[in-house]
Amino acid sequence: MKIAVLPGDGIGPEIVTEAVNVLNALGETFELEEAPVGGAGYEAAGHPLPDATLKLAKEADAILFGAVGDWKYDSLERALRPEQAILGLRKHLQLFANFRPAILYKELADASSLKPEIVAGLDILIIRELNGDIYFGQPKGFRRSPDGAFEGAREGFDTMRYSVPEVERIAHVAFQAAAKRDKRLCSVDKANVLETSQLWRDTMIEVAKQYPEVELSHMYVDNAAMQLVKAPKNFDVVVTGNMFGDILSDEAAMLTGSIGMLPSASLDANNKGLYEPSHGSAPDIAGKGVANPLATILSAAMMLRYTLGRAEQADRVENAVKKVLAQGLRTPDIWQEGATKVGTREMGAAVVAAL
Ligand code: IPM
Ligand code: MG
Repeated sequence: MKIAVLPGDGIGPEIVTEAVNVLNALGETFELEEAPVGGAGYEAAGHPLPDATLKLAKEADAILFGAVGDWKYDSLERALRPEQAILGLRKHLQLFANFRPAILYKELADASSLKPEIVAGLDILIIRELNGDIYFGQPKGFRRSPDGAFEGAREGFDTMRYSVPEVERIAHVAFQAAAKRDKRLCSVDKANVLETSQLWRDTMIEVAKQYPEVELSHMYVDNAAMQLVKAPKNFDVVVTGNMFGDILSDEAAMLTGSIGMLPSASLDANNKGLYEPSHGSAPDIAGKGVANPLATILSAAMMLRYTLGRAEQADRVENAVKKVLAQGLRTPDIWQEGATKVGTREMGAAVVAAL
């Protein structure tokens, strides 16, 4: 099994190192190959997604990704900014199904800004479509406004679009995931306003006929944003488009109070996947040794489960993480009075020891 290791920018290299240590401690022989991506790719090869990095990602069975982005690249033209690396990988590798679980570990029940009774036992899975929508829809660009009250003014425009087969493939992924959980799937859209969403909703209803065991509901995205903070435990699996999923998955992550704990998987039709923490590159704390490596370690566990077919090893890693939390070890992002404050390396080493 070959794993492409793409640490990226900011805290990326520190947290990926810990996840690699965990993989190496499992007693399996994985072939790991590292390559620069994001700002690091730009520094090394003049592009956020260098050809050699893309080639490695294509060849590998799975990709372990850290994070990309740094303020110092904000003034580059869009095509050269670090974010284009992750968008490019998603598109080139057709990683269309993004799994973003939001789980509240009982040891961290007080970390949420919501009342404990609202979030205790929270276990939501957000499935976000990752290859379409307004992120990739053409045409997009800048132009002179062709009509309306501001005719002639400079304007920016993007295109929201989804085709039926595109919605069908993410629908199947979502129904199958829901069937393995509590069998409730909530599809989030804006069908009261957008044609794209009407087609999304109609397609979800069609595909639902093949999954009678799963209960499908629909919710407008504004209401979903509200319900996520009002009664988050009413959700089991949420499926939504690229843009709404970007926003709602950050909101769901913060319900747990600790985005530093949440892994994610982006899968293609054959379960090949890119695995990354849900959080970003946090350039403000890069190199300080304080970043929480657990989201990346848990992403490696997802990789073992979904792509590498090693569910038992995934269980071992997840149990090791629960064990270090039970031991009271906390990086600063999840630290509370009475717990033992540790840095990135100590946290990673504790997980390896618990294995
Ligand atoms: C995410 C991020 C990305 C996105 C950025 C970095 C392009 O916010 O993975 O959620 O918008 O998809
Ligand atoms: Mg995001």
